[in-house]
Amino acid sequence: MEILTDPKLLQERCFSWRCKSLSIALVPTMGSFHDGHFSLMDYGRAEADKLIVSLFVNPTQFGPQEDLDAYPRNFERDAQAAREHGVDLLFAPRPEAMYHPDHATWVEVPDLARNLCGKSRPIHFRGVATVVAKLFILAQPTLAVFGEKDFQQLAILRRMVRDLGLPVEVVGRPTVREADGLAMSSRNVYLEAEERSSAPAIRQGLKAAREWVAEGERSAAEIKRRLELFWADRLSKGRIDYVEVVDPESMAPLETIADRALVAAAVRIGSTRLIDNILITV
Ligand code: PAF
Repeated sequence: MEILTDPKLLQERCFSWRCKSLSIALVPTMGSFHDGHFSLMDYGRAEADKLIVSLFVNPTQFGPQEDLDAYPRNFERDAQAAREHGVDLLFAPRPEAMYHPDHATWVEVPDLARNLCGKSRPIHFRGVATVVAKLFILAQPTLAVFGEKDFQQLAILRRMVRDLGLPVEVVGRPTVREADGLAMSSRNVYLEAEERSSAPAIRQGLKAAREWVAEGERSAAEIKRRLELFWADRLSKGRIDYVEVVDPESMAPLETIADRALVAAAVRIGSTRLIDNILITV
């Protein structure tokens, strides 16, 4: 496995691969790998001639009060794991290599970014879309693989690719979960023992929401009300950041569930903010 830190070298390497008609799968990550990342890598490995993983804790997607400095980092462990998953090239730039001091160009998809996580993280998706656009320009991937846990991120990146006509297929892969249902996340390491034991209630609530719809409930307000009660009972140290019922493509809030709906939530347990979602088809 080759490790590159210089964006120009990455671009040259990928250009030479594309000139030889080799397909490239890109898995953008912020490192601290878990099985969720490995499932994205394994998918990319199977689908393309070359597999690139980017490992970059992107500063522009963290707000001033967020956990940029505390974000878990373990480069040696991640590099070894990437090697074991058949990664051809690990791209791990320093922030200065990705952003000039006077960086001024942003990619924004405001219609899809203002709801859900965008409400409490107003600059987050601008940072995500910008860094992913930069990675696409450098790595020239034929496909890029993302997890569905970050469903809003996926919708935004799909729209960015469509609107800018970028020649890359954006693939969403199912959320990988712990045995008790908690969605895998690099931030799960922040949870204290008691917080960790209550965290699976997030998933249990979302599954209950799917049941309520299966039983005939169609009102988004009622589903939200029931979920708030469900979590109030089970997440003593939890505080709901949001729970929303939205259209899975536009991320616009729904009043009534007609065919497809995404129930998405962010919950703070102690100091850790966890997100999860469930796609419901009537
Ligand atoms: O999902 C993530 O880990 C990040 O938002 C991403 C896509 C790697 C961009 O920094």
